[in-house]
Amino acid sequence: MFTKTSGVLATLLLLIAQLRADDMLPRLRRQGSATQLLIHGQPFLIRGGELGNSSGEPDYLRPFWPKLQALHLNTVVAPVYWDSIEPAEGKFDFATIDGLLTDARAHDMHLVLLWFGLWKNSMSSYAPAWVKRDFQRFPRCQDSAGNPLEIISPLSTEALHADAQAFRALLQHLRTVDQKDSTVVLVQIENEIGMIPEARDHSPEAEKRFHEDVPGDLIAYLVKNTDTLAPELRDSWVARGKKTVGTWNEVFGEGPATDEIFTAWHFSRYVEQVAAQGKAEYPLPMYVNAALIRPGHKPGQYPSGGPLPHLLDIWRAGAPDIDLLAPDIYFTNFVEWARKFTRNGNPLFIPEAMRSTDACVNGLYAVAGENAFGFSPFGIESIVDPAARFLGESYDLLAQLTPLILENQGRGTMAGLLPEGLEQRQPQQVALGGYTVNVAFEKSAPIELADGIPPAAAGTPPAVPPPGGLVIATGPDEFLLAGTAIVATFQLRTPGGPQVGLLSVEEGHFVDGKWTHLRWLNGDQTHQGRHVRLEPGRFTILRVKLYQYR
Ligand code: DGJ
Repeated sequence: MFTKTSGVLATLLLLIAQLRADDMLPRLRRQGSATQLLIHGQPFLIRGGELGNSSGEPDYLRPFWPKLQALHLNTVVAPVYWDSIEPAEGKFDFATIDGLLTDARAHDMHLVLLWFGLWKNSMSSYAPAWVKRDFQRFPRCQDSAGNPLEIISPLSTEALHADAQAFRALLQHLRTVDQKDSTVVLVQIENEIGMIPEARDHSPEAEKRFHEDVPGDLIAYLVKNTDTLAPELRDSWVARGKKTVGTWNEVFGEGPATDEIFTAWHFSRYVEQVAAQGKAEYPLPMYVNAALIRPGHKPGQYPSGGPLPHLLDIWRAGAPDIDLLAPDIYFTNFVEWARKFTRNGNPLFIPEAMRSTDACVNGLYAVAGENAFGFSPFGIESIVDPAARFLGESYDLLAQLTPLILENQGRGTMAGLLPEGLEQRQPQQVALGGYTVNVAFEKSAPIELADGIPPAAAGTPPAVPPPGGLVIATGPDEFLLAGTAIVATFQLRTPGGPQVGLLSVEEGHFVDGKWTHLRWLNGDQTHQGRHVRLEPGRFTILRVKLYQYR
């Protein structure tokens, strides 16, 4: 009796310990309208940088770590190459992963790993040689003329099995060597999946599937989520009478848009099974990334069927184990694309972005304006000045502000500030608490005549970061502004009320989370009390107290 009871107790204790350990694994958690990444149970903001495609081998990367540290990164987004970890079927070699883990830990960094498995930017270029060569066992997609593409078919059960087994082995290895440290905090499955130059596969197997009925799982999702479907998908389904039975063309209408839905479904089903195999070993948060659409491009002209906003529901229905869809933003309308990827509560992480001079302000905007849990310019080891200097300065600022940003994400008390396009009205009006903050962006550092330098003699002005930043309502009449080249004024939201004046404007920084005073701003620096200004040319933090008068 005693033995039986203690046996049950021991099992229970083991179970509790296991649950606790799982709770300490990196995971995502909702806070208001935001989703945050927790590491060891604590919220974390990724100041990332993605390595160039061929920079993920430890020996090559080693000299770059000091540069990555100087940029104030806390996370490196690094590729894992299927062909290098499984050179022969079933024989795994994790030396590159172990090297990355050792070096990342030695430099106090986390890792996001990119599984360059069956597809990398549509193509199957990272599949091991034993996969590439065996096109009978691992069939390729075909175009409508019957030509094979170097894209292995998502309908290939052999490919799925091989890819998923390799991914599972990787996750099993990570659990063994990294669970205690949580160096790896997030995993991307494949890379920029998509069909191109046509919106779907035309191989005999794909043709057969395309003329079958839309799978019941997808229809059930459409029925259950009708009210929240992405408008493009809902419209095409509703226009055909919300059919619950029928072929793809019958349910969604004939054309490239439907071809793309078909493609997205099969890619998502494939990825779901890879994710599920990996999570069964080690349940890290997992995502897929998307190549975005150039203006005016139609399905087939961009990698089609990838995890794009208009296909969010297809991906959610097909791949419930995928935690988020992530945008690779290489376009200048950054805000527009970032926002599209927050549709329907999709958590925002930007694994790739231009490493241009805009990166320094785009990152600040993303975490404050769109509640992103991370931002990561691409080819980070190759970033050069002035973009590198600007990014380092803004990541330093972000590191100081992280606790405050995390506290305010998803709560409606914070806004990102970024000029977007010539069409945008200036000043931008941001409603926060009882106030409207009027925000104007400065183009470049004005040459200070007051300093006695006539414009002609001043020569070429030094490169300065583009304007951008964030504002947080830290109290009923208090704000924190951070960033560069911004001028702000304040007014009460209720019209006809008292006027608003500046009580104090303080410049400072956070040291170990504690505010440290540098100077009071007044006189010329606040235009004699008329406005608050984040000077162009550098990144600063200001604490502003307001008062009201009649
Ligand atoms: C997007 C891809 O996801 C990256 O791996 C890389 O190829 C960049 N494009 C461009 O260099």
